[in-house]
Amino acid sequence: MKKIMSAALAAMMVMSLAACGSSSSAPATTAAPATEAATEAATEAAETEAAETEAAETEAAETEAAAEELKTVTPGKLTMATSPDFAPYEFYSIGEDGTPTLAGFDIALAQYIADYAGLELEVIPMDFDGTIMEVGQKNVDIGMAGYSPSPERAEVMDFSDIYFTGGQSLVCLEANKDKFPSLEAANDPQFKIGAQVGSIQVGLAEENTPDADIIQMAKVTDLVAELISGKMDAAYIETEVANSYAKNYPELCVVLEVPYELAGSVVGVSKGNEALLKVVNEAIAECIESGKMGEFVMEANDLANGEIIEGLIEE
Ligand code: ARG
Repeated sequence: MKKIMSAALAAMMVMSLAACGSSSSAPATTAAPATEAATEAATEAAETEAAETEAAETEAAETEAAAEELKTVTPGKLTMATSPDFAPYEFYSIGEDGTPTLAGFDIALAQYIADYAGLELEVIPMDFDGTIMEVGQKNVDIGMAGYSPSPERAEVMDFSDIYFTGGQSLVCLEANKDKFPSLEAANDPQFKIGAQVGSIQVGLAEENTPDADIIQMAKVTDLVAELISGKMDAAYIETEVANSYAKNYPELCVVLEVPYELAGSVVGVSKGNEALLKVVNEAIAECIESGKMGEFVMEANDLANGEIIEGLIEE
């Protein structure tokens, strides 16, 4: 009950923040076309028929060039694959009536990018390894799932600039934390240690604890459920995510920090789509500089805190 209440409260807070953001940006967007229209009218009146035809031709060519420039899978749309098992990056927020809604700072940033590019956002949820495949096969325009810019992944997609910096952790049950004083101690065949399929955490597990029984699962929420039920001893999880789940499930403990040099999340962009990559990077820069990105992260954390995570059974 308390959990549901706080989630609802957080949702209301986010809603009021969102309303605030859109109303303040509205005058700026409506002002531009009005000025353009006035200028256009004045110019047209002064011009001869020949010049008008020429202008129309140039304009048509420019529009065509712009459309040509931003090629997406579905024209006019920005199609994004994500893996909503990863609060506060992306997760299902359960509303008061029980309806799950996609939330998280990746989703908010995706919307920001789409708005910036003048495209309609379409989010397609799937398992994490699926998102990489879909971007790789160019079935979607972008993938946003807290991607680390790993060299292997760079073969199948282009990376945006870093939009969020985090770290890596080992998570276990609070009751078992004495079993993991170090990664060396965790490197033991007696331990079942989990990592998400297709994630860099699999690499971290193989590198740091090769002697452990490494178990790969499709969803981070599955790893968390296995940890809570005691079927798994520890799991490699992104620090921000580990902290988020540990807040909702106090029996979890973010026991060790795991070194990883590529500390940062990037957007995966369909390989070779340079115009799209450029727009994505412009939008990210603007989002960070304006402070919006920081707001998105705070909102996502507030919303995830006290949230019942999809895929886990409420006690
Ligand atoms: N940062 C890690 C990687 O890029 C894990 C990302 C997992 N994301 C998710 N939405 N489950 O491999």
